[in-house]
Amino acid sequence: MFDEQPIITLENVSKTYSAGSEALQDVSFSIQKGEFVFIVGSSGSGKSTLIKLLLKEIEPTSGMIKINGEDLTKMKRKQVPKYRRKLGVVFQDFRLLKDRNVFENVAFAQRIVGKSNYTIRRQVPAMLSLMGLSEKLLSLPKQLSGGEQQRVALARALVNKPPVLLADEPTGNLDPKNSWEIMSLLDKINKTGTTVVVVTHNHEIVNAMQKRVITMKNGVLVSDEQKGGYNYVKH
Ligand SMILES: Nc1ncnc2c1ncn2[C@@H]1O[C@H](COP(=O)(O)OP(=O)(O)OP(=O)(O)O)[C@@H](O)[C@H]1O
Ligand SMILES: [Mg+2]
Repeated sequence: MFDEQPIITLENVSKTYSAGSEALQDVSFSIQKGEFVFIVGSSGSGKSTLIKLLLKEIEPTSGMIKINGEDLTKMKRKQVPKYRRKLGVVFQDFRLLKDRNVFENVAFAQRIVGKSNYTIRRQVPAMLSLMGLSEKLLSLPKQLSGGEQQRVALARALVNKPPVLLADEPTGNLDPKNSWEIMSLLDKINKTGTTVVVVTHNHEIVNAMQKRVITMKNGVLVSDEQKGGYNYVKH
């Protein structure tokens, strides 16, 4: 089914924080272009550490990480901002600009990559419409519900059409209805070809969606399975 190079590869990645806690131990997996992958595991099992490594916010103590053909461990510091702009990212706490309206929050992502006003005026409303937010372009974040705020964050993450979307507990602050809405948007985005990696504690959604699930426990990858399909072999 997949004949290309994986879009994300981790080989024997370990991370020990300077305080001495071993957050990841010898973690290896790869993700193919177009996959939808959940990362689950109890608190402190290393899930956010994985996301931070992929964003190059932190460095592994040992091991190799490759995304989109680029070796992150060899990437120069000054290349990092440009690299990060190629990834879509969403977090539990939305991280919107409080003093800017919905349109401007999403436009911001395009301004920093130098998109023209012409492009911004076309693409921002289109992306917000896809997220069901056409009526809210001029609202400030505080005038929105949590679910709406997360959909703005999702629009911002996706407006530049990144090949990979990383989400660290995107539904952590949402009620079940809004959680489902965000997850089905992620599914929709995945079906358009974006590779999606979602850290979550929401077992109900993970069980219902029947995707690939990577389970972490105390920094170790303890299982990697494709729900409703074949198993991936751990290497
Ligand atoms: N900056 C840091 N300095 C020292 N230790 C850290 C740091 N960040 C995380 N850790 C430790 O690394 C381990 C993994 O943390 P991580 O944040 O990856 O867990 P998590 O799986 O995301 O947990 P949660 O579900 O609570 O978000 C934990 O033991 C944590 O205390
Ligand atoms: Mg976490």
